[in-house]
Formats: sequence, C-alpha cells, structure tokens
Amino acid sequence: MKRLFSGMQPTGALHLGNYIGALKNWVALQDKYECIFCIVDMHAITIPYDPKLMRERIFNAAVDYLAAGIDPLKSRIFIQSHVPQHTELAWLFNTVTPLGQLMRMTQFKQKTAQFSDGGEDVKADADGSADERAGFLALAGKVNAGLLTYPVLQAADIMLYKAEAVPVGEDQVQHIELTRDVVRRFNNAYGEIFPNCEALLSNAPRLKGLDGVAKMSKSIGNHIPLSIEPAELERKVTREAVSDPRRVRRDDPGVPEECNVFDWHRIFSPDEDQIWAAQGCRSAGIGCFQCKKKCAENIEKLLAPMREKRERFTKNPDDVWDILNMGAAECLRIAQATMEETRRAMGLI
Ligand code: TRP
Repeated sequence: MKRLFSGMQPTGALHLGNYIGALKNWVALQDKYECIFCIVDMHAITIPYDPKLMRERIFNAAVDYLAAGIDPLKSRIFIQSHVPQHTELAWLFNTVTPLGQLMRMTQFKQKTAQFSDGGEDVKADADGSADERAGFLALAGKVNAGLLTYPVLQAADIMLYKAEAVPVGEDQVQHIELTRDVVRRFNNAYGEIFPNCEALLSNAPRLKGLDGVAKMSKSIGNHIPLSIEPAELERKVTREAVSDPRRVRRDDPGVPEECNVFDWHRIFSPDEDQIWAAQGCRSAGIGCFQCKKKCAENIEKLLAPMREKRERFTKNPDDVWDILNMGAAECLRIAQATMEETRRAMGLI
C-alpha cells in the first residue's frame, strides 16, 4: 500500500461540513492506503492563539477524528510536535526553497492581511496588489517568519514519511505543488531521496450551511457541530435551516433541486427518503417542517455513533493519549530513518 499523509489544524469542534468535505473521505482512504494523520500544532501557532486553550484544542481534535472513524488499528494518528524531526527537515528544506515562491503563496497573503493588525499605514504605501501588500507588511515586521515558511513545514510533514498521497481541500493544492518543487530541487542537489506526491481531492459536494447560501463554516456561524445534541440538532434543522422560499404556505409546491434542505437529504438520507422528500415537495404533499424533521433524523443517524464514541473517549482521556503516544512512537521511527538518510545525503554525517 502507498503511504498517505494528511495534517489537520487543531481548530476546535468540527462540523458536518468538515465531515462531508474531508473526514469521511479520510475514513474511507484508511483501507486503500497506509495512512498517517497528524494534528499540526506547529502550524497552528503561526497565528495568534491562547496557550491556555491549545492543549485542550489538540485533545479535542484527536477525539473528533477518532469519533468520526479514524481507526488507530488501521492508521497512525499523532501530534506533530511530538516528532521533532518535522521541524528539522523543514529547516533543511528551507535551504532549497526560494523566498519569492513563499511570498507568493495565496494562504500566506491571506493570513498576512488577516493577522497583521491591518497595517493600514503600510498598506497605503503599496499599490494595492495582494503581492505587494503582503511584501510591505512582511518588511514592516508585522508578519512572523513562521507564517512565511509554513508551507515548507508542510512539505517536511509529508516527506518525512515519504508519503505519495495527500488528501487535502482545494485551498491546499498550491502547498502540495510547492512540496513537489521542494522535492525536485532537493533531489537535484543531493540525490533521489524523496518521492513525488500528489494531492487527493475528494469529489465530495460542498456542503452549504443553515443559511443555504454559504459553505458551512464555523466563522460564519451557519454550521452544525458534530458534537451537537439531538434536540438542538432538530431545533437547528427545523427552525434555522433555510428551505425553498417558494413554499411560503404549506400548500405552495416547491422545487427540491433548488432547496438546500433537499441537498442535505441527498447527502444524509437513504433513497426512499429522498424520493419521499422530492415528491412531497413538488406536490406540496408534505410541509417543509416535516421534510426538515426527517432530514434531522437522518443526520442524527450519522451523528449518534460518533457521539457515543466521543463520550467514551472524553471519559477516558488516557486512552486518547495512549493512541497519540503510540502513533508518535511509530512515526518517530520512520522519521529517524528518513533524517539519517537525508543528513547523509547532505554531507552532514
Ligand atoms: N496546511 C494544512 C491546512 O491548513 C494542514 C497541513 C499541515 C497539512 N501539514 C500538512 C495538510 C501536510 C496535508 C499534509 O489544512
């Protein structure tokens, strides 16, 4: 089996959009690849954060992933900072990475704008192009160097394990391309040590949030957390989810293809419920409330086993730390072998 690596930031409670967009795919990939899933705390600290909350965020991320079906008997799951070779390899990779390429990364430019306290004074000096603004902000000392070399650490994450498959979202494709560039330059300079890797994009539909407009997202607040309680789930779906606006009254027919709740049915409901919802909507045989209630029930069928697992892990935190420590120990062994080979190739040992 080919090796697969993916990293996830410990951002706190995951939601249905995260599950449909990424996690569900990862769970399925466990049977096709030798998987390594990493909680990337070293990446998470490149933006302002509260140290008092970080350990809990890391722990909760692990619980969420385990509850969703990442299976420690099939895959390795560990915390990035527990394997210090990640940062060592990142340093070596820094030396074959052009500064300009890092400054052109889309995510760097976005985060620079977001986390550099505006930098209004500096922005005024730039001509308005995102490239130039990022450059000015960086030169003005408003951006930490970790944010800039973030993708190099990501390349090191993947290559420490010589992983060839990297399941990521669209927004990370540029970083995978950078990883391939780093590998090409490194191998040219020091010999064929690292393999080529590829982004695995899932063809999962983009889940929209309760508003029926934007992609489900915690920052917008239109999300349904995976840890939601059944009553709250039903309340949110039946009361907050926006459905087809044509159905003002109970006997107004609707167009299921243009209703976000029906999109959810297509993702979460069995065929017979989808047919029931579509026909009932078109003929006004059912009301939106009924349709949403059924949808909530089917989402609950997905979430119930996760909730049970989450509770079990939360009650036994030592089990979670055991899994993470075991993952780290196995990854450490692989990492040590790669670093030995790499140091040798570079003439360091
Ligand atoms: N940058 C990724 C994100 O924000 C997280 C990440 C870190 C990652 N290292 C990785 C993803 C290695 C894939 C492989 O989503």
